[in-house]
Amino acid sequence: MSLIPILRFYFVPKITVPEFGTFEIDQGKRLVLALEDNGVDISHRCGGNAQCTTCRVVFTEGEPENMTEAEKSLLQSKIEGGEESAKLVRLSCQIIVNQDMSIEPQMLVSKMDWDEPGKRPEEKVTPPPVWGSKLSSS
Ligand code: FES
Repeated sequence: MSLIPILRFYFVPKITVPEFGTFEIDQGKRLVLALEDNGVDISHRCGGNAQCTTCRVVFTEGEPENMTEAEKSLLQSKIEGGEESAKLVRLSCQIIVNQDMSIEPQMLVSKMDWDEPGKRPEEKVTPPPVWGSKLSSS
């Protein structure tokens, strides 16, 4: 019997965010909620539905290779600077935490002229995800 499923079960991913710290996260949690639930005032103005880009983050380590079609479409259409700029950011509402990650949120509520982050995203990725590869590997 392989030990990989058992090791996966016990693996507890960590997220590191400069100025906030390092947090242990339940595997499979949406990144946007993992951040918010650990005190990072991440914005999510569309409620985590891949419509606004305010939950955008830059990865310094641990960027997932997969990407939802909704994320890909929004990044390609809304990020200023074209395809090359779109490859530099990811949408935390479209990412599931399954590995260690180091990230830099780009639109914290405290740094924007907003008084709240937006409606809390659902626990599951919305819209229902269709998974593909990230922009830089396509
Ligand atoms: S795109 Fe709006 S919260 Fe992620």
